[in-house]
Amino acid sequence: VERNEGEAVVRMGADGTPTRKIDMIAEEVILDILYEKDLPVKVISEEAGEVPISDDYEYVLALDPIDGTFNSLRNIPFYSISMAFSTSNSMKDIFFGYIFDLSGENEYYATREGAFKNGRPLKVSRERELSRANVIYYGGDDWKIVDRIKRTRLLGCASLELCLVAEGKMDAFVDCRNSLRVFDVAAGILMVSSAGGKVSKEKGQEVDNGISIGERINIVASNELLHDSLVEALNEG
Ligand code: IPD
Ligand code: CA
Repeated sequence: VERNEGEAVVRMGADGTPTRKIDMIAEEVILDILYEKDLPVKVISEEAGEVPISDDYEYVLALDPIDGTFNSLRNIPFYSISMAFSTSNSMKDIFFGYIFDLSGENEYYATREGAFKNGRPLKVSRERELSRANVIYYGGDDWKIVDRIKRTRLLGCASLELCLVAEGKMDAFVDCRNSLRVFDVAAGILMVSSAGGKVSKEKGQEVDNGISIGERINIVASNELLHDSLVEALNEG
């Protein structure tokens, strides 16, 4: 679709944000394929909400048909399809994550055993010092840790931003705005942990959120070595 057409808001999505035409088309295409394959999954998707593909489903699929919609509409080459499969309604049971970088045509996937980009294993960075860290940082009300790290980047596509941490290009990703939805980050979280990193909520707690449309989540994802100092810095009074 042309940019003006793709941008048009067609309705409100199940997640409470506007559905643009481009989001709707991408979601329809993916749901059609899932129906065609008759996969035993219940989909939780940004626009359509809960969609059981088969009645006796075994898996839950957290789907973002386009993560980074704004980037895609402005031709900023950083947006993806993001999918995470879980054996339950919990983020804890995600066993497979798949992220396709739509403009770079890079394919990322992760199992609990490892994370891969175009078939090559991914490894997080080895940076230990907060003062040298390169961090994707979306603060909440508080942006004070920006003074304590080396660089920040804000690229507008959470799933691919997490892939940058998994492949060691960035050292950490922090989003404390209470606005991320689980399908934005579900696949990326497994990507980072399976590449040797660590992911927690903002106070260091395990990410045990339910996979549901209304859920909002704050996360800290790092190369592990920086994790404790990042969480500490975020929570200093
Ligand atoms: C958005 C992207 C963006 C993040 C926003 C999300 P969407 O998802 O992941 O990086 O900062 O919080 O809403 O709407 O493009 O699927
Ligand atoms: Ca989306």
